[in-house]
Amino acid sequence: MKMENTIQETAQYIQQQFEHDASGHDWWHIYRVWQLSKSISECEGGDLFIVEMAALLHDLDDWKLSAENGTKATDWMSRIGIDPDASDQIQTIIREVSFKGAGVETKPNSLEAKIVQDADRLDAMGAIGIARTFAYGGHKNRLIYDPAIEPEMHHSFSDYKKSVAPTINHFYEKLLLLKDRMNTDTGRKLALQRHQFMEEYLEHFFSEWNLKINS
Ligand code: NI
Repeated sequence: MKMENTIQETAQYIQQQFEHDASGHDWWHIYRVWQLSKSISECEGGDLFIVEMAALLHDLDDWKLSAENGTKATDWMSRIGIDPDASDQIQTIIREVSFKGAGVETKPNSLEAKIVQDADRLDAMGAIGIARTFAYGGHKNRLIYDPAIEPEMHHSFSDYKKSVAPTINHFYEKLLLLKDRMNTDTGRKLALQRHQFMEEYLEHFFSEWNLKINS
């Protein structure tokens, strides 16, 4: 029962922290990753409490949203009295989850980290992924597309972070790479459908851009 309360309390805290986000990392992103992590964990196993806590806290100190090396997740866990071992495990997962560029490997070690990373990546794919990508691009004042700017495969995290390329490039620099980077079988299965939908979307996008009539 105590664990269930801890999760509910954490969900409330996160909801209030992310209330006003307009970058595509709003509360509903966290909520979807949380639910998806639970579903994947039902098929794949893992410690459900660790999975849920890490899913809820995974973007709290994200480099895209706040200064690097934030301590909000750690502070919250000590405030609600999570035991230090579990807290360490959750912090490791949070560090391992985020995407740092096309050529930069971020392989998670534990099953719990694999699950949360899959869930987070799945939410960047498919219909929701497309919506979030354009929301984030708008938030960063990026163009939708510029034919003069080629996609670029970033081999370091600092290059990836500095990118100001149009949003369509982000599909090639990140989103279309995700299906081959899934950790679990359940994640791979879900990723495939979402991947196909993004490819279809891009096909339509470019046929409209080039004024070709679909036959
Ligand atoms: Ni996320």
